[in-house]
Amino acid sequence: MTTRILWISGLAAVVLAGGPSFAAAQGPSDANIRAGRRIYTQKADCQACHGWSGDGVRMDPQSPDGANLRVSTLDRDQLIFVIKCGLPGRDMPAFDRLSYSDDRCLGRTQADLDRMGLRLPDPAATLQNREVERLADFLLAKVVGQGEMTREKCVDFWGEEVDVCNEF
Ligand code: HEC
Repeated sequence: MTTRILWISGLAAVVLAGGPSFAAAQGPSDANIRAGRRIYTQKADCQACHGWSGDGVRMDPQSPDGANLRVSTLDRDQLIFVIKCGLPGRDMPAFDRLSYSDDRCLGRTQADLDRMGLRLPDPAATLQNREVERLADFLLAKVVGQGEMTREKCVDFWGEEVDVCNEF
């Protein structure tokens, strides 16, 4: 727990230092949101731990339980940071290929993590900056802060009536 608090407070400092982001001002296109959903469910397999809807109910019984992203209060910059750098010691992988190879993750390197005894699971795939941006577009539009899944939100999530929406 202490580790997580340290990490998140460091994260706030980074976000403040970075200043406001204007990228989200116009709102992402539907195509970008769909691209982000594909990365979430397929390439990066976020759903293994976070569930397809981000509710924290893992899809893969072998995976650790992820956070419930539907109640997350992280903003765009914070989401991007967590996706790229992971949460060392909390089973959240880092998806930036170069994380912990230079100073991009709060100045910490793999050697620092080893020294602190903090481990990170391997990601299903590493992601380009652009892919992380699409993930953030998708998460902010359909998952983060969206609360409990309903049938209506489910149809909106998939962009069509899919069988899984009958559960709601
Ligand atoms: C191997 C399991 C696993 C995978 C795969 C995974 N996560 Fe996580 N994630 C976690 C865990 C565990 C936590 C932290 C849970 C806690 O301690 O609260 C977490 C936390 C997070 C958080 C912080 C939420 C908050 O409000 O503090 C975000 C955002 C997140 N994950 C997004 C993603 C995204 C996006 C992907 C795919 C690119 C992904 N995760 C893949 C396990 C995973």
